[in-house]
Amino acid sequence: MKNVFKPASRLNLPVYPFADLERKASAIRNSGKSLYNLSIGDPDNVPPDFVVDAVKKTLDNPQSHFYPSSRGDQEVRKSVARWFKGRFSVSINPETQVCITIGSKEALCQIAKAVVNPGDIVAVPDPSYPVYHRAGCQFVGGRCMTIPLSVENNFLPDISSISDYNVKLLYLNYPNNPTGAEASDAFLSELGKLVDNNPEMTLAYDMAYSEMYFCSPPRSILEFTPNAIEFHSLSKMASATGYRIGFAVGEPERIAALIKVKEEIDSGAPYPFQIALSAMLNAYNGVKPPDELNVDRKIYQNRKLSLAASLEKLGLSVYHSNATFYLWFFIGKDEMPFINKALEKGLLLTPGSGFGKYGKGWVRASVTAPHTDIEAAANIIANMSI
Ligand SMILES: Cc1ncc(COP(=O)(O)O)c(C=O)c1O
Repeated sequence: MKNVFKPASRLNLPVYPFADLERKASAIRNSGKSLYNLSIGDPDNVPPDFVVDAVKKTLDNPQSHFYPSSRGDQEVRKSVARWFKGRFSVSINPETQVCITIGSKEALCQIAKAVVNPGDIVAVPDPSYPVYHRAGCQFVGGRCMTIPLSVENNFLPDISSISDYNVKLLYLNYPNNPTGAEASDAFLSELGKLVDNNPEMTLAYDMAYSEMYFCSPPRSILEFTPNAIEFHSLSKMASATGYRIGFAVGEPERIAALIKVKEEIDSGAPYPFQIALSAMLNAYNGVKPPDELNVDRKIYQNRKLSLAASLEKLGLSVYHSNATFYLWFFIGKDEMPFINKALEKGLLLTPGSGFGKYGKGWVRASVTAPHTDIEAAANIIANMSI
């Protein structure tokens, strides 16, 4: 029988940039060649023992065998509220302002289902995490409005003209992937005013990297306005991307809408991983994280500084930031010849254009690999004629 199957038109997306890179990487590995992979933001450090133990112990709790709730366990939501108060000095109500999520990626997609109607404008920074304009806009029939980010503005967008458009959903992300940029207080204060003056707009503020900082702790948008919704994750905080656990916090009606979508689609995050999240958050003392996280931060910071120094010796222009494990550097007009040449030599990096057209010419190196790999990567780049 002739196969007449056609996927839905919403799947007419260019190949997911990281999936494409992963395929190329496995082809190289399968050919037996060695590969240094600085392309994926998947921490190579391990979760703290007490977080792993929390999962193990909870598996024996009969509650783990039942369906969890879509909004998340009540005690875990209380841990989130306590953490939020200690970390950001913001009081949130665990009953109405918290939703436990299956990592932050799913929630960043589901919020679009909760607020966007077909034809509505979704404002997305460029470069940015591809999920915003793909699942966050295209999947829901939104119209994507690009907000350019440039090095001249420290990768903070000019939001002064957003009120001129009828933006329904605005995605922003600081500390930022792919650039590593951090939001200044002045920017957050301006953003808070924008949100307050545009009550029909939803700001989805992505803080997946809130704990991956080396200098001053990034601030929450909820310190500046109660009207936004913010997304957090255990993934990078505890080197636990496989646990798939995170949370959304903020304005109650938007949280309720997100929960409503989740009730239709999933049955909540697995209980043992909710408890792992709670264990990590409870280990904070105010802003101060458990020692394990400080150790991880130091490792990433040293790797980032060392790679930056090597690249600068070669005359490359590096964007210096005090957050995330990404190093963002400029190659020239088009980064693809550089990316391809590096791949031939066994080094996988992420092309900036995978994050949008304003990322063209830039390259992202994720320092989530051992220091020896970072040194090997620097040597490979040094031996390439750039
Ligand atoms: C900016 C940003 N937001 C969200 C996520 C999703 O993380 P998770 O779903 O593991 O919480 C990522 C993952 O790389 C990211 O880079």
